Amino acid sequence: MELKVVDHPLVAHKLTHLREASTRSPTFRALVAELVTLLAYEATREVRVEPVEITTPVATTTGTRLAEPKPLVVPILRAGLGMLEGMTRLVPTAEVGFVGMVRDEETLRPTTYAERLPKDLSGRQCFVLDPMLATGGSLSGCVDFLAERGADDITCICLIAAPEGIASFRELVAHLHVRCTLVVAAVDEHLNEHGYIIPGLGDAGDRLYGLV
Ligand code: PRP
Ligand code: URA
Repeated sequence: MELKVVDHPLVAHKLTHLREASTRSPTFRALVAELVTLLAYEATREVRVEPVEITTPVATTTGTRLAEPKPLVVPILRAGLGMLEGMTRLVPTAEVGFVGMVRDEETLRPTTYAERLPKDLSGRQCFVLDPMLATGGSLSGCVDFLAERGADDITCICLIAAPEGIASFRELVAHLHVRCTLVVAAVDEHLNEHGYIIPGLGDAGDRLYGLV
């Protein structure tokens, strides 16, 4: 698994604003979208393309377009949904699948409550979206699921990751036959006793959508 930490002043600036407890939901959502677009630029560096013949007003030339099948973007519900708009802004022709996961507050283990994905993912480049990689259970569960469906090229985009979660995710991926890249805006210090990332930003789902 390749880890890419996007080191850019605009990413650092927006992430700092996002972390602040005083940042309210509307601003939080806008910042998430902007951050994802910046991360997606890095995350799509290896997206598959093919040559295409085009005619400009004055000549013909060979250009580049996204190859078929189109990339599949998979937000992990609920918080990953907040990242979808920022991703599709950059790759509007991508298709979108959904995986719903929630982790138990006590055991920190995730359960899957929803899934809407193509049955066969072989040959598809997948881009998984989840703002927080804490213990790594949710992201590992989702990537495992995509690999079972035949995906062999998976890029995960997270805003903040904990070192413990990265280590556990790396271990899972080592046992799968997938090319996996993890793109993050920051690797934080550690997890606290409740499984929250420190310093982190709190509960991403609640800050996006409120307490439910
Ligand atoms: C949060 C977050 C990740 C997960 C990370 O989701 O969005 O999916 O926790 O924790 P982990 O790495 O320990 O699995 P949560 O389960 O709170 O659900 P939500 O997105 O519906 O708020
Ligand atoms: N999920 C979140 O939303 N935040 C954390 O810090 C950990 C898991």
